[in-house]
Amino acid sequence: MNFKIRAATKEDCKDMSRMIMELAVYVKMPDQVKISHEELQRDGFCQNPFFECLVAEIPEEHKSKEGFTVVGYALYFYTYSTWKGSTVYLEDLYVMSEFRGNGIGTGLLSKVAEVAKKKKQCVQLQLSVFDWNTPSRDFYAAKGAQDLTDTEGWHFIRFDGQNLDNLANEAPKD
Ligand SMILES: CC(C)(COP(=O)(O)OP(=O)(O)OC[C@H]1O[C@@H](n2cnc3c(N)ncnc32)[C@H](O)[C@@H]1OP(=O)(O)O)[C@@H](O)C(=O)NCCC(=O)NCCS
Repeated sequence: MNFKIRAATKEDCKDMSRMIMELAVYVKMPDQVKISHEELQRDGFCQNPFFECLVAEIPEEHKSKEGFTVVGYALYFYTYSTWKGSTVYLEDLYVMSEFRGNGIGTGLLSKVAEVAKKKKQCVQLQLSVFDWNTPSRDFYAAKGAQDLTDTEGWHFIRFDGQNLDNLANEAPKD
């Protein structure tokens, strides 16, 4: 299938928001999505954006059942490894179910790698995937990714809500 991958613009945030929810439904956690398309616009398209995003677009004649032509996205940002240096973190990779298996996911993933290498000289691309999401784990493995939980035993740790507030409130005063 003919598709184009391009940098997302502010005008894509409604499509991104829709697909963020679709991905959350796919991973069975739709109630966790708190971000609106306005917040995506604010956070991704300001002077110092928190993230970058690529979208996959198909021609009008192949639009989805509901009439969408933006059918996939990859949202990522830059982090830093004190061992290896600049790193790109792939927060989301998603292709609408009716368009999977056409090379769009591979195209998005490769483009993220290309952009990160060219723009920030990244030496690593990292992401998290649910244990049960075998199709996606297989997809990444087939592209050469290593599973760090298997090989190095890493756990993915988070502070949020009251626990984050508690930490911040306990900070030493200046
Ligand atoms: C993972 C995903 C982005 C791949 O996108 P895609 O456009 O189907 O990928 P491609 O067409 O480039 O590659 C398809 C390959 O992935 C495999 N695959 C993984 N999940 C698949 C799915 N749900 N449907 C179809 N193929 C899938 C296929 O077996 C195929 O392998 P092949 O190249 O050996 O034939 C897409 O399946 C998806 O959005 N999945 C649901 C969301 C998700 O799990 N995202 C990753 C979260 S970390």
